[in-house]
Amino acid sequence: MSIEEGSTCVVTGANSGIGKVAAAEFARMGARVVMVCRNREKGRTALVEICQATGNTQVELMIADLSEMEQVRATAARIRDRYPHIDVLLNNAGAIHRPRQVTSDGFERTFALNHLAPFLLTLELEPVLRASAPSRIVTVASDAHRRGRIHFDDLHLERKYSPLRAYAQSKLANVLFAREMARRLEGSGVTSNAVHPGAVATGFGRNNRDLLAWLVRVGARFLRTPEEGARTLVWLATEDSVEGATGGYYVDEKLRKPSKAALDDEAATRLWDLSLEMTRPSAS
Ligand SMILES: NC(=O)c1ccc[n+]([C@@H]2O[C@H](COP(=O)([O-])OP(=O)(O)OC[C@H]3O[C@@H](n4cnc5c(N)ncnc54)[C@H](OP(=O)(O)O)[C@@H]3O)[C@@H](O)[C@H]2O)c1
Repeated sequence: MSIEEGSTCVVTGANSGIGKVAAAEFARMGARVVMVCRNREKGRTALVEICQATGNTQVELMIADLSEMEQVRATAARIRDRYPHIDVLLNNAGAIHRPRQVTSDGFERTFALNHLAPFLLTLELEPVLRASAPSRIVTVASDAHRRGRIHFDDLHLERKYSPLRAYAQSKLANVLFAREMARRLEGSGVTSNAVHPGAVATGFGRNNRDLLAWLVRVGARFLRTPEEGARTLVWLATEDSVEGATGGYYVDEKLRKPSKAALDDEAATRLWDLSLEMTRPSAS
């Protein structure tokens, strides 16, 4: 699917890291880009940089704290109102939180931001994506999913919280979601895939300085640049060679087998049903 003038790409967490690089790449290809960002000032700065670097001014900023479900819903409604056609939805925003935080919905914030937000945003935009087929949904997961399990008896980790436990669960949820979404979209012309971008030197983990800053400092020379990290996302969102490919987990532009837990179809439907109950998408 070639992205060109008139195409529309929605990118969450587009003000920094790999989301910003991907947004700039889509803009460079001539697409209209919707940047969904949490912070107006940071979002504005990134938007100006992207417009200047690409010469494309068809870039719009939408502000939302995606860990809050009302804000996800409102953003989806705004996108639907303004863009009747969407070619690419890139679910990229993500974070790791320490200490444990609870959103106004009562959800553990990592689970809410990393899993429930892409779940709800995608379902709220599903009718537009279907009407725009062929279109693509790319969800940024992580190889950290291999260390995770879905704690069905304690999804919000009230009993035993650690940032990495929450992160790994949420990233496993990303892979389960991307696969289950693909199954439900079968035959629609809309594809859904998950990606691991590699270990990338971004702002990721900056809200957990003591925990991750050391790791990042020590490992910085082994980390990828955001440009390298964004490569597989952009490839999956735009390349003709992966037209129609769906339900996959990709690393370095290659289809990879995710963990056994990520291939558990029963867990995928159970998580789907619980996510529906928690987020109540308008069409469900
Ligand atoms: N970096 C890695 O090594 C690595 C490895 C595997 C997977 N990933 C995944 O890659 C994705 C992008 O991360 P990155 O490495 O590019 O890190 P990043 O530079 O920190 O980017 C994360 C983006 O998500 C946004 N975000 C955070 N909390 C948000 C909220 N509540 N509402 C809306 N937006 C929010 C951030 O906005 P602010 O700037 O306002 O915080 C930022 O734009 C994440 O899903 C991450 O899990 C990263």
